[in-house]
Amino acid sequence: MASFREICFTPTEFANLAKVGKDTVHELEANGLLKTIKKRVGNVDRKMVTLEDMQSYFRSIRSVATATAAEASAPVTMGDGAEAAGPAMPAVNNLAQTLARTGFVAHAPKHKIQMFYNVKGGTGKSTLTAQYVMRAAMLGLNVLAIDLDGQGHLTVNLDVLDAHERPTVYDVLINDLPMSEAIMNVAPGLDLVPANLGLCNIEIPLNQKTRREYRLSEAIKKIAHRYDLIVADTNPAASILNGSMLVAGDLVNVVCATNPLSFHGMSLVMATIETMEQEFGRQLDVRIVPNMYDNREVISQEVLGELRSQFEGCCTRAVVNRSADLNEATKRRSTVWDVNPRGAAAQDMSTLTEELLYG
Ligand SMILES: Nc1ncnc2c1ncn2[C@@H]1O[C@H](COP(=O)(O)OP(=O)(O)O)[C@@H](O)[C@H]1O
Ligand SMILES: [Mg+2]
Repeated sequence: MASFREICFTPTEFANLAKVGKDTVHELEANGLLKTIKKRVGNVDRKMVTLEDMQSYFRSIRSVATATAAEASAPVTMGDGAEAAGPAMPAVNNLAQTLARTGFVAHAPKHKIQMFYNVKGGTGKSTLTAQYVMRAAMLGLNVLAIDLDGQGHLTVNLDVLDAHERPTVYDVLINDLPMSEAIMNVAPGLDLVPANLGLCNIEIPLNQKTRREYRLSEAIKKIAHRYDLIVADTNPAASILNGSMLVAGDLVNVVCATNPLSFHGMSLVMATIETMEQEFGRQLDVRIVPNMYDNREVISQEVLGELRSQFEGCCTRAVVNRSADLNEATKRRSTVWDVNPRGAAAQDMSTLTEELLYG
């Protein structure tokens, strides 16, 4: 059992995640694009890719892809300065350029500030937020997760167990603590603003603050330049704190469990988002993420069908199936890749992550 910080991947798992052939791994190593370590498993030393090595790989391919795209669009200049202006990266070579051209998404996430939202509890917000931020960090993005629920489920899912001693968004919004001082590192490429029970008491003091709904947005703006992606997990209520995140965010990922009550609550969720948009002059992109889908259950199929027809254009193509792996990942406070890298939950989370980042 490994925490996310210590997670390692076999060459086959790495190849699947990087969408390269298993045979390419040797070539990537030979070209200096990928580092591996030897790790003792039982009696044998096995070749493994650490989280940091995976992140470095994705970062170098991304910078090669960006440089290749810039080169392709730059006007051809001849003369002494041309060479000096070229990309100064050791990783630039034919193999990397080939990989960069084969559909690797190099641009920044389409929406930098995102939130997982639903006024109903138990739909899977905290679970999906945790898996999403870890998956995005695996891709070499610099990610900040923000826990806006006093229950602190995202915090626990990210294996932080001493949050009661740490500052939270309460201190930022009520006591004017700079956001940077509430941020902690949980793993390479992944920071967190944790939550604890004290955050449950924020509504009354926040209500008394001037520009209350703008305070979170202003705090996030000050640290946003440090990150590629900022993702908040919200509390299951139409609270001022959640409203503040609707003011701060670009994309709202509404997690809807594929059951009748969750579907029933969707009209209220969409109406709340619309009211906030009108009140604060914001235009939010909204994605509805169907979760806990079970294709053996007629009711699950019906709810998914209704979601897709009633909220056409909002529903993600990706559907997260009901899977014990997600519960197990919660229990282990780790990722579904640690639990079962070849399982449906790992596949669903990869597809969902790509869609929410770039789709
Ligand atoms: N796709 C899924 N398959 C199986 N269990 C899930 C799935 N998504 C979430 N869960 C489980 O459902 C429970 C509630 O999820 P949680 O993320 O805490 O919901 P919320 O944050 O919306 O209140 C947790 O025990 C979690 O492990
Ligand atoms: Mg939650």
